[in-house]
Amino acid sequence: MAMLSRFERYPLTFGPTPIEYLPRLTAHLGGAVELFAKREDCNSGLAFGGNKLRKLEYIVPDAIASNADTLVSIGGVQSNHTRMVAAVAAKLGMQCLLIQESWVPHEDAVYDRVGNILLSRIMGAETRLVDEGFDIGIRESWTRALEEVRARGGKPYAIPAGASVHKFGGLGYVGFAEEVRAQEAAMGLRFDYVIVCTVTGSTHAGMVVGFAADGRARNVIGIDASGTPAQTKAQVLDIARNTAALLEAADVTADDIVLLEDYAYPAYGVPSKATAEAIRLCARLEGMITDPVYEGKSMQGLIDLVQKGFFPAGSKILYAHLGGAPALNGYSYTFRNG
Ligand SMILES: Cc1ncc(COP(=O)(O)O)c(C=O)c1O
Repeated sequence: MAMLSRFERYPLTFGPTPIEYLPRLTAHLGGAVELFAKREDCNSGLAFGGNKLRKLEYIVPDAIASNADTLVSIGGVQSNHTRMVAAVAAKLGMQCLLIQESWVPHEDAVYDRVGNILLSRIMGAETRLVDEGFDIGIRESWTRALEEVRARGGKPYAIPAGASVHKFGGLGYVGFAEEVRAQEAAMGLRFDYVIVCTVTGSTHAGMVVGFAADGRARNVIGIDASGTPAQTKAQVLDIARNTAALLEAADVTADDIVLLEDYAYPAYGVPSKATAEAIRLCARLEGMITDPVYEGKSMQGLIDLVQKGFFPAGSKILYAHLGGAPALNGYSYTFRNG
């Protein structure tokens, strides 16, 4: 990959992810625009895969070079990111300490026993439940965890929430843009818009830098799922600017970051009725599974934007499916009747 060739990459994924046409969803929404999905959710054999692996491919060489023996990271109780860090630690033969905070005001009897956290435990990670609310920034609980690993004689390597605020956090999704360009050439088409779910920011930020190379930075439409869009947008811009500087690419400005705020309600991790409807619709028309925390909200956004006529007729739209399905296990009551 041209822009990224200077950076070491530790392969964790199968290779380029497939792009699929979504014919039944396209027809259901009127057929004026064509919908495709890039299946980042199917990108690896590591514990169900997902977007974090593309980021971690550029972070792992630094972790190995540091001689660390323990990966330390943080997220919500049902964090996909911490599951991916647990899988990578297992694969590398490292230990793993995960801080799992109470980011989601969602009540389900088995929320801290199923889905992502269950998988992390099976993979041997130490999962520590901490009673702190949602925040995408650097947390005290996480700093304490790093000290604790040192105190017991280990050598921690710190991976922030979502693998985002890390010097190499934005590189993986620059690679996504380069991969899409190659697939567009092979498919003989060009996508007019990319839809991405945004929370900690480095997925969106990497895409902005990658697509800026062919003038499409503002065609990356971020759908906020954090419920704290001002902080998320500032973090996307920061990561994009740092990533552009690292790659010696053209700088990114605030206007390049498009983040739509209308779909994150009522709160991070809590699906609205419209989110649950979007999850059902996409599952019933395409057999494609999205989750209540992330992709269900970006799917809801995609459906609403098509229905509102946001995209000019004839547009080709690429929905980045970033993973996240294991969290559905924590929402069994929401879908108890289908
Ligand atoms: C399934 C899924 N989709 C979207 C996102 C958002 O990505 P980012 O945190 O890079 O903004 C995440 C992680 O936060 C995720 O796990």
